[in-house]
Formats: sequence, structure tokens, C-alpha cells
Amino acid sequence: MANPIVAQQRSGAPDSGVRLAELMAALSIATDLGMGQPLESALCTCVVAMRLGEALQLDDDTLRDVYYQALLRYIGCNADTQGMAALFGDELALRHDFATADPGRPPEVLSIAMRYLRQASAGEPAYRIASLVARGLLSLPRLMSESFAGHCEVAQRLAGRLGFGESLIACLGQIYERWDGKGLPRKLKGDQVATAVQIVTLAQDAVVWARVGGRDVAVATVRKRSGGAYHSRLADRFCAAATTILAGLDEDPTWESVLALEPGERNSLTDDEFDRACEALADFADIKSPYTIGHSPGVATLAAGAGQRSGLVEADVSALRRAGLLHDLGRVGVSAGIWCKEAALSDREWEQVRLHAYYTDRVLARPEPLRHLGALASLHHERMDGSGYHRAIAGQTLAPAARILAAADAYQAMTEPRPHRPALSPDRAAEEVRREVRAGRLDGDAAHAVLAEAGHHIPRTRRDRPAGLSEREVEVLRLVAQGLSNRDMAAQLYLSPDTVKHHIQHIYDKIGVATRAGATMFAMENRLL
Ligand SMILES: [Fe+2]
Repeated sequence: MANPIVAQQRSGAPDSGVRLAELMAALSIATDLGMGQPLESALCTCVVAMRLGEALQLDDDTLRDVYYQALLRYIGCNADTQGMAALFGDELALRHDFATADPGRPPEVLSIAMRYLRQASAGEPAYRIASLVARGLLSLPRLMSESFAGHCEVAQRLAGRLGFGESLIACLGQIYERWDGKGLPRKLKGDQVATAVQIVTLAQDAVVWARVGGRDVAVATVRKRSGGAYHSRLADRFCAAATTILAGLDEDPTWESVLALEPGERNSLTDDEFDRACEALADFADIKSPYTIGHSPGVATLAAGAGQRSGLVEADVSALRRAGLLHDLGRVGVSAGIWCKEAALSDREWEQVRLHAYYTDRVLARPEPLRHLGALASLHHERMDGSGYHRAIAGQTLAPAARILAAADAYQAMTEPRPHRPALSPDRAAEEVRREVRAGRLDGDAAHAVLAEAGHHIPRTRRDRPAGLSEREVEVLRLVAQGLSNRDMAAQLYLSPDTVKHHIQHIYDKIGVATRAGATMFAMENRLL
């Protein structure tokens, strides 16, 4: 079967340079974070599942489902996390511990649930803890069924938007189903559970237990769960070939291994397809909290519009839009209990919040086209005075595109409710953004472009820069004077060489020079360096 997205590719459509498998592998890093698992757990699961599938001589279509089921299994994991956190506290820690439990054995599930219910009600009087734990345990079956059904439905809808076909979408509707019929939410049994689903469930068990206790423990666990979570034929084949199937997981570069295993054609997404995929990923990120629904597309629209107003070329506007869609992917790695907290955050919780920008960077760290977007997206909480996070980059080292993204994120967030405050009206939000500019935290040009894009009236202010240069133009002029090549300037400013060239010509026209030396003299004469 051809690549589901690429199958729709129109000949001659612009190539984004991003392979579907690469994007899905990146997404799997995000779902590791959301499931409280070590990074690359899903990648390891994919390698093990594919090796088992090949040992079972599965046909190409089933192998393709195995491959993407392993990478996308938990793309619905951000749904309902607020409810889980309200009941259990840190849902990421709960999920981490739950990974070793056998969901077909109620005592294992109940013991973990009880521990977290107790922790979540710590500090309450003893009688109240008992009542909260009892109530939690009573509601557990309904909660698990509803929550798992929600995860499946969200995963299926996202997979549909990513262009996958019916077969994988059906698999994603069965992620918690089991061979013995004790799964959720539909209690499918035997062959009703897709082979790809059973293989990925087995592979995940094997990866988790190999990490905990090595190959022998993984084999013992799979043998114990044989005929329960998965067909005994699959378990037998795994146990017989475990040494080969689990070989090199710790040492091998898993990213490359997974990409090498991609079944079928290896084509890139077109620009339009990549845009649609980014939109789906934005919703994956935003569903983590009820109050962030629609946040990332809002930031993307504002940032792209502001970029256009600021004279960026089309490629840079497109990068800003995509970075806006992807900027909060890292939120998945922070507990919903922290995102939803109404009271002031503790230092430890703030530390977690700061990490989300870093997580965005890491999720998108490979391959190159994603790395560029990730680097820009992860700057969305940086501030001009160095008070932002996670790198605390200040002033001139913060690229113009990053300043626009930061202003767009700040404005958009202010117009949305947060647990500790209601949404601000557009005018109040604009006022706050201007206050941030005056305080030196947001860039004036970037903020004005964002506010203009949001429909606010921006009064023309007299610039005291020579020749009517804007702050951004002065920055470019400084780099010109420092002797940077257009390519180096483009890298430093997160702009394309074309935009830089355009800026420089515009600046030269404004200041009436024709050469780099002339521009440098102008900068020196006007004390701009
Ligand atoms: Fe953020």
C-alpha cells in the first residue's frame, strides 16, 4: 500500500522536505512525554514490533499498520488529562507506573490507583482520605472506560487528519483492547482485535520490561501474558526469537533504525500536507487543557500576519505560522495538574512549566526542517530583557521572528482564560502587551505588528532612529557592520537569505548608501554600533 498521505500528493506540488515517518517519529517523542515514559520508548516499541512482524512474515499492509500503530498509539493521550489529574494528582507519574501493570489483572490496576488516590488526598483528615479513596475506586471503571474511549476517538480523528487510511484508524480505536476480551472500551475478543494492535501491545510490554529487568524478564512477562493481552502464537514467536528481536535497543541509534524500517515508499510531504499535519499537531497540543483549545492556531495566525506586516518573505511567514502551530507541543510533558492549578505555582512547578519550551525543541530536534521550526518555536517565552525561558536569551540575540512569536503568544494567551484569571478583553490585552513593551520585555516593532494584525489601531510614533530606521533595521545594520555574510545573518536572525537581502537593500536605500563599507560608516557616524 502506498504512503497514505503521499498517495494524495499532486504532481509538482512543493515539497516540504519532511518525511511522513520522520514527523510521526517526532510525534512519538511527544507521546512518550505525555505517557511519562523515557524518550524514544515508542521508537523502541516500533523497532521491536516490526522485527516481530517480520518474524511472523506479516504482509506489507499489516506491517505498515504495525509501524504506525507503534508510533501513533498514544496520540490521543492528551485528552481528558485534566480529569485524571484532578483525581490522581500527577497523571504522568501515574501513567509511568501503569506501564508495567497488566490491565487484565484488576489487583495490579487497583493497587496503583489506590496509591495515587492516597497521595492526591494527602494532608486531608484520615476519614476524608478513606472517603476520597473509596469514591475514587468506585468511579474508576467508568472513568477508565470513558477516558480510554476518548483517547481512541481523539487518536482516530488526528490520524484521519494526518491522512491515514481506514485500517490504521481502526487499529487506533483498539489500543486498549485485548485478546482475552478484558480490554476497553469495547471488550473486543480474539481475532476481533487487529493483529497489529496485539503486536504493538506485546512489543510495548517487552520494551518496558526489558528496560526494567533485561531480556529474560521481558520474555517471562510476555509468556505470563500470553493468551491474555495477545494471542499465544505471537507470544511464542517473540519468546523464541527474543534475543534477535531485542538486540541492540540500548546501543543503536533508534531514530535511524525506525526510519530504516519504514515500509513502502519514502517520500516527503508536500507543503500543503505538512501544513495540515502541523494543524493536527497544534490540536494535539492544545487539547491538554480546556482553556488552551484553539490557542496554537490563534498564535500561528497572528504571528504569520505580523510577519507579513514586518516585511518577511513568504518562506519566513510560513515558518512563523508553522512554529506558531507547533510552539506548545512540549506542554504534553508537564502534568495537567500544574497547568490547571488555580493557586500560585511552587518553585518546583514553575521549573516544570519552564521545561515545556525545551520539550518543544527536543520533540522537533530531528530532522533538519523540523529542527529549524523547533528552534524558533521553543523561543516563544523568551523576553527582550532576558527574563524569559527556557534559554533566557536577551535583546539583540533574540531573532525578529522569535520576537514576533513571543508577542503573538503573549497577546493570544491574554485573550484566553487561564485557571488563575478570566480572559482579558482585546483592548485590555493590547494594553498589557504595550505595558510589556514599555517594561522592555516585548519588542516594540513585533508587538505593534501583532496588535495591528489583531485589529488594534497603532498610532504612528516618531522614530528617533536616523533615516527613519526601525529597531529591526538597526539590528540588521549592526550585523552588516560586523561583517557577517548574508547566510550567517540569515541563520542568526532565523530568516531566509532572501529576506535578509531584501532588508539590506531596503536599509541601503533608506540611508542612501550602496556598499557594506558605506553602511558601516553610516552606523559609526550615527553611533549605532
Ligand atoms: Fe508556551
